[in-house]
Amino acid sequence: MAGASIARTLRIFDTTLRDGEQAPGCSMNLREKLAVAHQLARLGVDVIEAGFPISSPDDGASVREIARAVKGPIIAGLARAAEKDIDAAWESLKGAQRPRIHTFIATSPVHMEYKLEMGPEEVLERAAAAVRYAKSFCPDVEFSAEDGSRSDPDFLCRVFAAAIAAGATTINLPDTVGYATPGEFAALVRRVRANVPEIGRVAFSVHCHDDLGLAVANSLAAVEAGADQVECTINGLGERAGNAALEEIVMALRTRPDLYGAACGVDSRQIYATSRLVSATTGVKVQPNKAIVGDNAFAHEAGIHQHGVLANRTTYEIMTPESIGLPRNRMVLGKHSGKHAFEERLVELGYEAPPDEVASLFAEFKNLADRKKTVSDRDIEALAMGRTTRAVETWRLDRFVINSGNGIASTSAVRLAGADGALCEKVAVGDGPIDASFKAIDGILGKKIVLEDFSLSSVTEGKDAQGEARVRIFHEGRRYNGLGLSTDIVEASVRAYVQAINALENDPGKVPCAG
Ligand code: KIV
Ligand code: ZN
Repeated sequence: MAGASIARTLRIFDTTLRDGEQAPGCSMNLREKLAVAHQLARLGVDVIEAGFPISSPDDGASVREIARAVKGPIIAGLARAAEKDIDAAWESLKGAQRPRIHTFIATSPVHMEYKLEMGPEEVLERAAAAVRYAKSFCPDVEFSAEDGSRSDPDFLCRVFAAAIAAGATTINLPDTVGYATPGEFAALVRRVRANVPEIGRVAFSVHCHDDLGLAVANSLAAVEAGADQVECTINGLGERAGNAALEEIVMALRTRPDLYGAACGVDSRQIYATSRLVSATTGVKVQPNKAIVGDNAFAHEAGIHQHGVLANRTTYEIMTPESIGLPRNRMVLGKHSGKHAFEERLVELGYEAPPDEVASLFAEFKNLADRKKTVSDRDIEALAMGRTTRAVETWRLDRFVINSGNGIASTSAVRLAGADGALCEKVAVGDGPIDASFKAIDGILGKKIVLEDFSLSSVTEGKDAQGEARVRIFHEGRRYNGLGLSTDIVEASVRAYVQAINALENDPGKVPCAG
């Protein structure tokens, strides 16, 4: 809004790779986490919570690699209020340019009694001791009072005061179970701010879950009440109903500076690309009516709305699609377009790639332009996403032949090329051409793979639209995602399956096969 004054800067703490990744079916491997972390740095978040190092060797390795490779944002690692957790967190974080240890303990009566089996005084001591221990390694220490919104406010204030006295530089108030309502949560933020001595010396953070659909509302109410940092995730991923959605918080601040008077360092034009990347890597689709990043968020269907928007966009549009980097779906590129124009369009869409990757994406684009009359921004975006999420290719689809129809069993012969170029082919019968093809691939690998999830959608409208297939497979306790694109839906599905297989084959944490 013109003339609105921006009085302060809000810190955006992204926990997609920790709280988001904890959600069922959202696990990512190291390579995927690294791609997301680099994109979060491009997005301009202040803090990336990269994982919970003690929770598994994989998580520790991912945090270590992100800490080493991603420059710019603070890299945080989570640790319970215990020395072994803090040791593991520091071990993973110490290579970071700007490390942060994030330690937490629950402070609500129900958590203290039934989960921790500790009395309040013991919890208070553990909190202070954990912060002190973390501080012996790292100058930047965040302390969270888990289930803070259901804690006794006076006790909560004492715990925060003790954490600050022990050296915490950020204190975080979580609404762990999404129980709070906006007015109540804002009042709690004000109460803590008024009653904790020295609170002005540290950053005050909030972390809201969406069990009642109030995570963003609660976070924004906290901002109005003076919070300095908001913890959130891309697409609102997270435990159960998820966390506050980063894109909604950022666009609320941007759209209503008159109300919040706060800016943040996020480049909102990177929001759409980040949302798509997280959706592609986790395999979790964004609902079409999701605020900001849903497919319908900027679509005007009703005639009266279309009329208004044509006369003046602000009749029904409070934000522009360009402000989140949404491709306009202009059909500007075709089979005669050159590499330069293609590369420019990629950058406009928020994808930066090294020259060798641009060259191979351009080859894929040319291939697509031969099969499809018009290539839209959405097609190009899908190609770029397919490449970003691709694992090292242990296996490459060489060819497949199907025989299918109604009233007959489908058969598929799939030939894959191995890393050494050797070709392997198998034929299988299945319930439809996709099932037969997946079975043929299982036959080549000699592995028992469970297909947990499979979906097909079209990238654009039209009979020649590209099909986008997503698969999630399960093998020996671990899950892998794959994404495939083609104007032929069987080919898209086979490509997605092969991509998931490649993720499995290149998973450093997988259980080695005996023999
Ligand atoms: O929801 C929660 O309380 C958390 C803490 C660990 C910050 O995720
Ligand atoms: Zn949480």
